[in-house]
Amino acid sequence: MKYEVLKKDKTDEETSGHALHDYDKMYASFSWKASEKEFVSDDGCLNAAYVAIDRHVGTWRRNKLALIFEDEAGFIEKFTFEDLSLLSNKVGNILKDFGAERGDRVFLFLPRTPYLYISFLAILKIGGVAGALFSAFQEQALFDRLEDSSTSIVITTSQLLPRLSGIRKKLKNLKHIITVDTDDFKTSVANASADLRIAGTRPDDHAFMLYTSGTTGKPKGVVHVHKAIVHQAMSARLVLDLKEDDTYWCTADPGWITGISYEILGNLALGITTLVFSGRFDPKRWYTLLAAHKVTVWYTAPTAIRMLMAQGVSLPKSFDLSNLRHLCSVGEPLNPEAIRWSIKAFGRPFHDTWFQTETGAIMIANFATLDIRVGSMGKPMPGVVAAIVDDSGRQVPNGTEGNIALRPGWPAMMQAIWKRLGKYHSYFINGWYMSGDHGTKDGDGYFWFIGRADDVIKTSGERVGPFEVESALVEHPAVVEAGVIGKPDELRGEIIKAFVVLDKDQRSKIKNQKDGERLKEELMEYVKKHLAGHAYPREIEFIDSLPKTRSGKIMRRILKAKELGLPVGDTSTLEEY
Ligand code: WTA
Repeated sequence: MKYEVLKKDKTDEETSGHALHDYDKMYASFSWKASEKEFVSDDGCLNAAYVAIDRHVGTWRRNKLALIFEDEAGFIEKFTFEDLSLLSNKVGNILKDFGAERGDRVFLFLPRTPYLYISFLAILKIGGVAGALFSAFQEQALFDRLEDSSTSIVITTSQLLPRLSGIRKKLKNLKHIITVDTDDFKTSVANASADLRIAGTRPDDHAFMLYTSGTTGKPKGVVHVHKAIVHQAMSARLVLDLKEDDTYWCTADPGWITGISYEILGNLALGITTLVFSGRFDPKRWYTLLAAHKVTVWYTAPTAIRMLMAQGVSLPKSFDLSNLRHLCSVGEPLNPEAIRWSIKAFGRPFHDTWFQTETGAIMIANFATLDIRVGSMGKPMPGVVAAIVDDSGRQVPNGTEGNIALRPGWPAMMQAIWKRLGKYHSYFINGWYMSGDHGTKDGDGYFWFIGRADDVIKTSGERVGPFEVESALVEHPAVVEAGVIGKPDELRGEIIKAFVVLDKDQRSKIKNQKDGERLKEELMEYVKKHLAGHAYPREIEFIDSLPKTRSGKIMRRILKAKELGLPVGDTSTLEEY
């Protein structure tokens, strides 16, 4: 196997400042038990919001900046650890007044404004289970998640509220919707007590959940527990290399796991000043933010890096980015080209990291002091045992393609799929957690990503299940059936492509190309409006029939092979083709 190696300086001077100096030594000696001691109190209780915020208030960090917010218009708001402690106490008391109890699901449907972060912490403090809903979600996506989780309270803004109004009546367990940008809420916050007894949650109590997509069925609720913060904090230290004086910017949205694990929990547990930008992606603006806030550590995603790359190196060179010292990437394959470009643009490489909603924290990564094999995801985080196994869970020889698998036992591992025990157990085979990703491991323990083992789509780093998109499409009166795949795309990694079988009458109405284009536009808009702004098919193709198994399952594998001009493989189980 041929690859490029970026050698890291191994002199003492260079490595001594990093939490991880010698990977092999630390990997051999690391223990989660020892790590826990730093975060868990002696009485055996662990509340992740306490660890992230209140723990610091009794130390010199009390007046340290915790979160800096900048919005699209350039308005900046800053919160110290004490500010966040008091405000989350107040919101915790407000939630209690609304009747929220331990174990209740309280969901956040909010853009990246301070109350998203404050409310998340407040929910954990009262022992509730916080759920995050990406702000691009529309009615169907919202309904599925709120219904399945039996959420009792949703926190939102007046701008997003209308999307909940239409489904509110159908949600039997939903008792309250709290709108944070109203005068009412502001008065409640002003009047609420800032004293709150933080719930004495245990390390294994549920803390938050995120819905995520698989190949089939509706999205599933991945449940995480309070002790996940031990892993999130340790990986923020060892992989993101966060240190006391850093200004750290994570570009993810807390509607996804990266935004929760590394924009709220892991980073704040270490007491790190964190920047949150709620505006849209724009290369010039991003560089302006990096320079103006003197960002030192930056965690972003390959699609964004490729979009920056498309603007060339002269733009970043025109900014003072000399404070940047460590760059990391997550969510989709990081192409070697992007690493080479980042060396030209910033004088340093992006470090790829790999994890999933289900793993809750970084599992495999390129470390600041470890040589980078360009194109590899790196090595397992200390405390994590990773391997490549076959479908029956047996390890395969180095260099052989197989399933990326992990030995259960890391603290951030999901502890349940909400109400679906069978689904949860189906992740484990022969003592391994099966990630659903394919890859290889080389002789020196570096992992290389190959692709998904299933039909899950990654578009601009966001995870979309084909079934959800197909279901949204068939809701449209013109559509009889739909099959959805991820089509490789240079910029976005993948785009969503839908193969659509039209109703006979509709088909006869299409007289020319223009009619067809118009209907495609309409279908795209329909998915955007009903399911989610990011989950619509950017390409649609009308097709006479879909390839299916004899039992009636759509064979997306065949649609994909056809799209890519590849051999379609074994079609013996096909009903029609
Ligand atoms: C993909 C995101 C290649 C992978 C944190 C995984 C990656 C899925 C990488 C999880 C990477 C994540 N290289 N692929 N470094 N990181 N993935 O749940 O397919 O949104 O299974 O969590 O993203 O997506 P999720």
